[in-house]
Amino acid sequence: MSMATKNLLLPYVMFLALLHQVLGNEAVNSGQYPLVVSTWPFLDAVRAGWRAVDSGLSAVDAVVEGCSACEELRCDGTVGPGGSPDENGETTIDALVMDGVTMEVGAVAAMRYVKDGIRAARLVMKHTKHTLLVGEQASAFAISMGLPGPTNLSSSESIAKWSKWKENSCQPNFWKNVVPANGCGPYHPRDSLDLIEGTCSKDMETVEPRSSLVGLHSHDTIAMAAIDKMGHIAVGTSTNGATFKIPGRVGDGPVTGSSAYADDEIGACGATGDGDIMMRFLPCYQVVESMRLGMEPKLAAKDAISRIARKFPDFVGAVFAINKNGVHAGACHGWTFQYSVRSPEMNDVEVFTVLP
Ligand SMILES: *[C@@H]1O[C@H](CO)[C@@H](O)[C@H](O)[C@H]1NC(C)=O
Repeated sequence: MSMATKNLLLPYVMFLALLHQVLGNEAVNSGQYPLVVSTWPFLDAVRAGWRAVDSGLSAVDAVVEGCSACEELRCDGTVGPGGSPDENGETTIDALVMDGVTMEVGAVAAMRYVKDGIRAARLVMKHTKHTLLVGEQASAFAISMGLPGPTNLSSSESIAKWSKWKENSCQPNFWKNVVPANGCGPYHPRDSLDLIEGTCSKDMETVEPRSSLVGLHSHDTIAMAAIDKMGHIAVGTSTNGATFKIPGRVGDGPVTGSSAYADDEIGACGATGDGDIMMRFLPCYQVVESMRLGMEPKLAAKDAISRIARKFPDFVGAVFAINKNGVHAGACHGWTFQYSVRSPEMNDVEVFTVLP
């Protein structure tokens, strides 16, 4: 084909491409997106995310608005300030936001004295070349960028919960192979003491089943995914972590690919549950990559959960998966999972229940 002919054809090709795109979007738009999905029946959080995408804001804005609403409402006492005291009685915040267009991520972990987790995470994404800031330096960054603080993140409820736990000999807790086994710290490694004393290790310790520590009375994390009117996808998470965690513990919440993952080309995933276990498997990365290889969301979700269950039959956890067309599904292990969805064909948020 001559150069001249090519140039003549170019406008037609471009027109056809444009036509295809418009039709394509229309076809998908018929009831598929915008879309907002979150872990658990966090209805007001999903409504806040929905208001954002429905008014034309980006998917990133939607997950920030949605997770931020949960922080303000202190969803289940496990998101935002005033919940999940650690062994010192302090509440700390983990949060993450990921843009599925650019694959940029911002996250904060073990952040103290600042209650706005997801907004701090977005500041990391927007104004730094880093991905994750932690501890007091994360708080200092957030405050320097304009978020309110320093704030006391304890509440009378979290302090009461913590006092009761202290009175109960600091049980349950997250230690293992330490002495004292059934009391409060300071703790020392049991093995090295055995060496010093020249005794064999006696198995006097009854190891708490993890399910007694994680999630049966608290839903621990909001993970939210949104598809905006442009078809762009983002995910966000926010949590104040595991109750009675060892200070300094960071869970799956701010770990990319574990609590959440998004890629515009494929879809997104959000996770909740025993983060200490789940973060070893990057379940949300697994879900999105399985969908990339052709799995439907439901199968991809089930596969990611079963990979963990094979190694840790006692773990509790769940994921939701959405593909870029707005098809959603969930899978869980060890507990019954619920996730919330708002799409154009719904009048309000709908809650889907997934059995293990
Ligand atoms: C933070 O608030 C809690 C509960 O209201 C209170 O018990 C605690 O003393 C406060 N901590 C500081 C450092 O003010």
